[in-house]
Amino acid sequence: MRLGWLPVAVVVGIAGVVGVVLFFVAGPNGGTAFDSNPVAATEDSVATGARLYQNNCQVCHGPDGRGGALAPDLTLHISIRTDGFLFSRISEGFPTDGDQKTMPAFKDQLTETERWHLVNFLRETFRRPPPILPEEMSQ
Ligand code: HEC
Repeated sequence: MRLGWLPVAVVVGIAGVVGVVLFFVAGPNGGTAFDSNPVAATEDSVATGARLYQNNCQVCHGPDGRGGALAPDLTLHISIRTDGFLFSRISEGFPTDGDQKTMPAFKDQLTETERWHLVNFLRETFRRPPPILPEEMSQ
């Protein structure tokens, strides 16, 4: 039996999958999607995050996180992102590896703890409530 290019295709395929996973998981220096939040989501932490959000993020993402011309709606994705993912995006900006950022990196402006306070604030504030079904559908 001749396998021909099959083993090569398999290796290339695996390398591709690993590459894509690493892209989403590993930010260069700004943490990884697997990092867990070392800062407890206390009332104080969320309040600090709110202040940081107003000063650094609101200009693009809007006071209610719903975005606008400059940035996307944060309420769409927060609930499906890990804390580590949010942290690494805030740290590195978008795209994480390019020079032409549509969102600036904050790792030089904000301390690590401040960035985790922001993660706590985002999660508490922009997590979507479960959908409310119309009366007739919930029976
Ligand atoms: C200059 C405008 C701008 C500022 C300031 C800004 N952002 Fe963004 N942000 C963006 C843009 C644009 C994107 C989408 C980037 C993309 O998908 O290419 C984004 C994406 C995000 C995402 C990813 C949403 C997702 O899950 O896909 C998060 C989280 C986020 N911003 C949080 C913040 C926080 C927190 C701050 C303040 C520390 C902030 N942003 C400041 C423009 C901005």
